[in-house]
Amino acid sequence: MTYIETANWLKERLPQQPEIAIILGTGLSDLAEEFEILKTIPYRDIPGFVQSTAPSHKGNLILANISGKAVLLMQGRFHFYEGYAMSKVVFPTRVMAALGIKSLIVTNAAGSLRTELPPGSVVRITDHINFMGINPLVGENLEALGERFPSMNELYDPEYGQICDEIAQQNKIETFTGIYLAVSGPSLETKAECAAFALWGADLVGMSTVPEVVIARHAGIKVLAYSIVTNYSNLFHSLAHSQEEIRHHAGVASQQLKQVLTGFIAQLA
Ligand code: HPA
Repeated sequence: MTYIETANWLKERLPQQPEIAIILGTGLSDLAEEFEILKTIPYRDIPGFVQSTAPSHKGNLILANISGKAVLLMQGRFHFYEGYAMSKVVFPTRVMAALGIKSLIVTNAAGSLRTELPPGSVVRITDHINFMGINPLVGENLEALGERFPSMNELYDPEYGQICDEIAQQNKIETFTGIYLAVSGPSLETKAECAAFALWGADLVGMSTVPEVVIARHAGIKVLAYSIVTNYSNLFHSLAHSQEEIRHHAGVASQQLKQVLTGFIAQLA
């Protein structure tokens, strides 16, 4: 099943053709149910999709009405650490491109490498470091989507970022900006790794987002991305954080993020 075939399969089933998509990461999946849902399709029913096995990931593709626009929501994503080939991890993003998605909003839960970014912080990603050990574009170039050597300059759209920062300010929501470093996981980082990442300029560490964002840029989709800080990284304490802790912090911050994203979508052309 190619991404084009999957896109055509979806076009026959979606009541409207969306131009905006959101990937809801760890602890954020429940947000989908707070919008007016127009259609829900479980990943297991979608040809070419694999199943999400990560904790608190639900595994549905949802078409929702947000601020009067049809928005495609991924309720849960596929991670490289689950054992899927990178081509499977980014398959839904390529399907989005074939569906005509123009703007992609990516969210995740991340560990903090800065004391100034405590758990619960909402951080707009301004750039990334790919330390996953693999680039999702390795392999034959899909010319129909984009060029062989796509630029990664201003990958996280500065104009989108400015719009969102203004919305946050108007609504008195404190948000931060930061650089996201992606590891493959699933083991968490060592202290030495965290110290190195912080020296490189990274503010956040996580196990997702970079694959989807690189594929989106290749296909000419504009990107906005947010992390919710669920824990301090191993730089500051040696305690492993629990899944409950992650979900708690993601829950509080996700309401703030929801407000910003709803405002942003309202302003999108
Ligand atoms: N490290 C990597 N990924 C994460 C973390 C972390 O500390 N927290 C949430 N996702």
